Amino acid sequence: MKKRPGALLTLGLAASVGIAQAASAGDPQKGAEVANLCVACHQADGSGMNIAGGESWPRLAGLDANYLAKQLHDIKSGVRQSPTMMPFVAMLDDQKIADVSAYYSQMPATPAKGGEQATDAALKRGQQLAEQGDWSDYIVSCKSCHGPGNHGAGGNFPGIASQHAGYIEAQLKAWKAGTRKNDPQDLMGSIARRMSDDDIHAVAAWLATQSPAAR
Ligand code: HEC
Ligand code: HEC
Repeated sequence: MKKRPGALLTLGLAASVGIAQAASAGDPQKGAEVANLCVACHQADGSGMNIAGGESWPRLAGLDANYLAKQLHDIKSGVRQSPTMMPFVAMLDDQKIADVSAYYSQMPATPAKGGEQATDAALKRGQQLAEQGDWSDYIVSCKSCHGPGNHGAGGNFPGIASQHAGYIEAQLKAWKAGTRKNDPQDLMGSIARRMSDDDIHAVAAWLATQSPAAR
């Protein structure tokens, strides 16, 4: 191999760009075109929407690219069931999934809705579950997996702070009922089954009032 400093520098840059692309495994620019299919629900800024009493659209902005891609593959294969999402994921091949996941992951996280109406008591209980857990119910704190501030940890543990309350609540109830079971080792199922509906409501409301991850 030739040892010119310039060539080495180029090589080094190419290598680090290569690693960055492998991690997100997608092209955000191409993902922006794919996202035209998604804006009606997930919005142009990726903020989604809290729909009280209905099926909320999750915020995608700022979530980890590998996590987003996993969910899209899971929904496409039917491991995670979403009749609403199905027609849209059916239009995506593996490359488009990688591209659109990269696109949403690099958008700044946006504030969530749905915690505004919660009582002080519910918010206090929600904070306790999220930050300390409750040993009397064998509930581990959310942040022990979802990372500091519940802002997410790598591609396996998504950020849940500043996600819409309606969406968090629906997902926890889906795990409790066994209709979402795409998580490794049933980690979420075993937690959700130990939570009362009041606890689910409380933690969802508190998480929705938290500031989006600083990115
Ligand atoms: C008609 C509304 C609608 C459209 C259009 C739509 N989605 Fe969704 N999306 C939803 C809903 C509702 C959910 C929550 C499903 C559930 O309850 O499990 C969801 C969930 C997701 C999730 C899982 C998020 C998470 O945090 O686990 C991803 C990723 C996603 N959508 C990406 C997309 C992409 C990419 C497109 C465009 C190709 C798209 N969606 C188009 C309504 C929509
Ligand atoms: C033992 C680890 C662990 C703990 C503790 C944990 N989670 Fe999770 N959680 C996960 C994993 C893993 C996933 C991703 C599942 C997947 O791949 O679909 C997840 C996903 C979620 C999601 C779905 C996010 C989305 O965008 O769809 C929600 C909501 C959630 N967790 C809420 C909670 C709450 C609330 C608590 C605390 C009461 C909690 N989790 C505690 C491991 C954990």
